[in-house]
Amino acid sequence: MVCLGNICRSPLAEGILKSKLPQDKFIIDSAGTAAYHIGSKPDIRSIAVAKKYGIDITNLRGRQFTRQDFTDFDLIYAMDESNYHHILKMSESEEDKSKVKLILNEITPGENLSVPDPYYGGDQGFENVYQMLDEASEKIKNNLI
Ligand code: 4NP
Repeated sequence: MVCLGNICRSPLAEGILKSKLPQDKFIIDSAGTAAYHIGSKPDIRSIAVAKKYGIDITNLRGRQFTRQDFTDFDLIYAMDESNYHHILKMSESEEDKSKVKLILNEITPGENLSVPDPYYGGDQGFENVYQMLDEASEKIKNNLI
């Protein structure tokens, strides 16, 4: 799960998908395309909305997306079009490229919608992001198991 800062959207996506899939069979992680928040905890508003739905993301820490992630993961979900293009620019093969998807295309295929960045908004933005990511993660789960 990849966003810009790895403190708002992608840690939430990581926590939600982890809550839906068996941890012994799937390795789920998140990263940011930017380096601003390496080592940071998730935003308190992401922690709060996750907690509201029974998911604990307090132990996650920010990291930056690297080329190694193309080797380590089979699927790479970008939260928005900017992240998507950033990741594609880092790819080194057609196989790398084929792993990269816009997460909301799981709900609305081909529409290339973005999960809005909630960083500068209020709590309602985080609730909206939670709902979108929950719906998308449910689809991802159904694709995988
Ligand atoms: P995220 O949100 O990409 O969902 O983690 C952001 C977090 C921090 C910043 C931007 C977006 N920032 O500019 O610091």
